[in-house]
Formats: sequence, C-alpha cells, structure tokens
Amino acid sequence: MATTVTFLFYFSIVSSFFISSNAGRKLLDSESVSTSGASNLTYVCDPSRYSNLGLDMSDFAFCDSKLPYDVRAKDLVDRMTLTEKVKQLGNKAVGVPRLGLPKYEWWSEALHGVSNVGPGTYFDDVIPGATSFPLLFSPQQRSTSPCGRRLVRLFQQKQEPLRDPRWGRATETPGEDPYVVGAYASNYVRGLQDVEGTENVTDLNSRPLKVSSCCKHYAAYDVDDWLGVDRYHFDAKVTEQDMSETFLKPFEMCIKDGDVSSIMCSYNKVNGIPTCADPKLLKDTIRGDWDLHGYGSNIVSDCDSLEVMVNGHKWLGDTGADAAAQALKAGLDLDCGDYYPNFTETAVKDGKVKVKEIDRSLNQLYVVLLRLGFFDGNPIYNSLGKKDVCSQEHIELAREAAKEGIVLLKNVNETLPFNSYKIKKLAIVGPHANATTAMIGNYAGIPCKFISPLDAFRNMVK
Ligand SMILES: *[C@@H]1O[C@H](CO)[C@@H](O)[C@H](O)[C@H]1NC(C)=O
Ligand SMILES: *[C@@H]1O[C@H](CO)[C@@H](O)[C@H](O)[C@H]1NC(C)=O
Ligand SMILES: *[C@@H]1O[C@H](CO)[C@@H](O)[C@H](O)[C@H]1NC(C)=O
Ligand SMILES: *[C@@H]1O[C@H](CO)[C@@H](O)[C@H](O)[C@H]1NC(C)=O
Ligand SMILES: *[C@@H]1O[C@H](CO)[C@@H](O)[C@H](O)[C@H]1NC(C)=O
Repeated sequence: MATTVTFLFYFSIVSSFFISSNAGRKLLDSESVSTSGASNLTYVCDPSRYSNLGLDMSDFAFCDSKLPYDVRAKDLVDRMTLTEKVKQLGNKAVGVPRLGLPKYEWWSEALHGVSNVGPGTYFDDVIPGATSFPLLFSPQQRSTSPCGRRLVRLFQQKQEPLRDPRWGRATETPGEDPYVVGAYASNYVRGLQDVEGTENVTDLNSRPLKVSSCCKHYAAYDVDDWLGVDRYHFDAKVTEQDMSETFLKPFEMCIKDGDVSSIMCSYNKVNGIPTCADPKLLKDTIRGDWDLHGYGSNIVSDCDSLEVMVNGHKWLGDTGADAAAQALKAGLDLDCGDYYPNFTETAVKDGKVKVKEIDRSLNQLYVVLLRLGFFDGNPIYNSLGKKDVCSQEHIELAREAAKEGIVLLKNVNETLPFNSYKIKKLAIVGPHANATTAMIGNYAGIPCKFISPLDAFRNMVK
C-alpha cells in the first residue's frame, strides 16, 4: 500500500536542473558573432573574396599560407599607416579595406556557454566547479565549444580566486582555493582552445586555436562596491606573498598549464598602480616570469579600463594620450574600449610612445587571428553543423557535470532520493519554484530547453 507523503520543498537557491532536448533549436548566424559586418565572410584570404573586392590576393604576402605566422603578421602590420594601425587596437578593430582586411570584434563573453547566444548545450554556473570531483572540465568544454563560431575570441573565465563571500560575483568563480581555481581555469582553457590532434605541436606560437580564450581579471579584483569604494576606484593593498600565493597563482597556472592565448587586466589598482598600466604585472610577470609565449598571445584590458584609469583613478593626472602610452609601454596589447584607437596617434606624435610598441601589439593580435583560422579558414571544422548542437551526448555531459557539482550536506531519514512510488503529493514552494531563466546564472549561453523545478518534479510524481 502506497503511503502518501507530502514534501515541502523550498527553492530559494536552485542548482542546475537543465535536462535539455533537441527540440526547438536553431543555429545563429556565426558571422554575426565573429566578424561583425561582412556577412558573407568565410575567411580573409579567400581568393574569390579578394576578387569580389577588386583586389589581387597574390599582392599580399600575409595571405601566403606557406609563410610562418610571424612573417605574415609582420607583412600585414608593415603595410598599415599609423592611422590605420591605431584603429585596430580597440575591441572594434575597423579593418583596412584597401588591404582586404575586414573589421573584427574582439569582444564576446563565454563564462559558461557563449553569453546570450544559443540555443546550445547549457553547462552549469561556475561556482559548483569548486566542488566537482573528478574534474570533468576538459571534455565538458570540448562539447560546449561553439560549432561554427570558431573565429571567435572569447573573454572567458572569471578566474580570480574568491576572497570574500560577500563579493557579488562569487558565483562566477570556481571558489576560493587558488590551486583549484588554477586547475579549473587551465583545463577549461585547454578544452576551449586545443584542436584535437595538435597537442604535440612544439611551436606554441603557431599552434592552432579552436577558440581563443582569455583568463580574467588580473588581479586582486574581487571587490564590486564596498563601504563606498567601487571597483573603478579600488586600490587593493596586497602583500607580495599574498599576491603571489593567492591572487597570481591561478593566472600563472592558466598560462603555464592551460597555454591560454590571452589575459585580461582588471579595473582596480594594486598597491597604488592600475593593473593595466603596470609593467611589473604585465610585461615582467605575464610575459617575463611566466613566459606567455612570444607573439601568439595578447594582453587585453577590461572594457573601458583606460577610461577608468583617467576618470576613476585619476592616475597621475593622465590625459587620454598619456594613459594610452602608459598602457602600451606596460604591455597592454588590446584596449576593450576606444582610448587606444582615439588617443594613440596623438601619443606617438607627442613622443609619448614609440610605433614599435604598437607594432609589437598588432603582431601579437594578428598571430592570434592566424592561429584561429581567421585568415585561412579551418577546414577540419567544416563538417560541424546543426547536428552537433544540443546533441544527446553533450546534454548527458552537462547533466553529469551538474551532478558532480552538487554536494548533499544532510539527508534526514534518508529522504533522498525521492521515491516516486511513495510520493503522491509534493508541494514546491518558493520564489524560484517555477523558475526557468532565473536558474541559468549570468554571462550564460542560452540552453537548448528549460525545465523548471516544478515541471521536473511533476514529471517525477506522475
Ligand atoms: C559579399 O558578396 C557580395 C555579392 O555576392 C560582394 O559584392 C561582396 O564584395 C562580398 N563581400 C565580401 C567581404 O566578400
Ligand atoms: C602526443 O604525444 C603523446 C605522448 O607521446 C601521445 O600519446 C599522443 O598520441 C600524441 N598525440 C598526437 C595527436 O600525436
Ligand atoms: C572616440 O572617438 C569616437 C569617434 O569619434 C567617439 O564617438 C568616442 O566618443 C570617442 N571616445 C572617447 C573616449 O574619446
Ligand atoms: C525522521 O523520522 C523520525 C522517526 O520516524 C521522525 O520522528 C522525525 O520527525 C523524522 N524527521 C523528519 C525531519 O522528517
Ligand atoms: C510556470 O511558468 C510557466 C511559464 O514559464 C507558466 O506557463 C506556468 O503557468 C507556470 N506555472 C505555475 C504553476 O505558475
């Protein structure tokens, strides 16, 4: 005889309940994500594209796929005027029509899934990553890597460790342990970036990239707004030991173990210096000590960091040109914002920075795009298509990852797992009892399908 048991289940915090299916999916136009504008762009060095543009591709050595990436990047950069060069240093790189170089948008987000793009297989928010054993990260990210959007650079991982649980962005991190954070980040990066079959390529500067991933925010950034100090004015006072053991460790692992192709500096100052203008943090540590390898990688600012430097921190009373010059000299390659494009030319003319600093950055940026296949295409991914999005295999992996991230703290009277033969009535109570989008977290991709807790339990008891 079946007993009637009534459960009160209060869903104030909801963990992942996405059991997705193939229903209702549609592929978005990949070009709208990757190359903003030229909607029929396949890859830059496509001969028919050049002939459509009335240009002869053979005039441009940067399109010669037989040459090494650094030679090709240099050829491209050397053809540009100063005015053309500085216009490529912002996230909205405008391109150079007379060279057949299209515009490129460097900014997109992918904390877990490509933000606001989908539907695609949804992976849980990042904070359960702090509890996931065994680590599922690499294969997990292999299946999230967005099919058909391979020419994209993604700002990815909030991978600074969590110091204060009151920080509003705690959920975007894999927790407080610098080693776990570093392991999560480097595996995530491997999954996103690595092209199968190229693991053993020895020249890291030309190793192909599936997507270019970016670890952020560097460094000691975890304050949003506290006691009247916000992240645009925050000056983190950190001892050298704490800096290296806690705040820098995950970034070091992201570079050395993950071979990441980009690092993003943060809005705050560390011990009095804005991170994006600090040559010790950027050039000396990232490129020097950790050897973020030579030219196939870049350092990018958080969006409008230079504006924050001038108007928030009022750093050294800098003008826009001063800030651009300082950041370039510190080793910042790309400005997510418009300070570099707007003020760098003046900075050069005023003798504040040398053109060779700009050339160094541009060369690094174009080698990343060459590694991505932006110039030559990437035929091994041509067979990917709709069938690879929201596939059953990927959904199972997402479910497995979500399960690994759940910790059962208490199970009074062995209530769990629920027994659907015994439970005939179940009350689901709370603000998120019928939640769908509220469950996905922020900077998330759009799931294949939503199942609310209410529906999931309803399916269970019927
Ligand atoms: C896109 O195609 C149109 C016509 O098919 C052509 O005129 C145009 O030049 C092409 N654009 C690029 C960037 O190849
Ligand atoms: C890379 O090297 C490892 C160790 O030698 C080997 O097991 C693996 O098969 C190699 N991978 C490829 C794609 O060659
Ligand atoms: C940069 O220049 C653009 C175009 O002239 C302008 O719209 C924008 O406001 C400028 N930004 C700054 C910070 O000066
Ligand atoms: C657990 O079971 C005992 C014995 O049946 C009962 O007295 C107690 O109320 C139960 N606890 C809960 C939280 O249901
Ligand atoms: C749950 O939400 C859906 C829309 O997301 C709505 O159609 C449905 O009526 C809601 N159910 C309840 C019991 O409120």
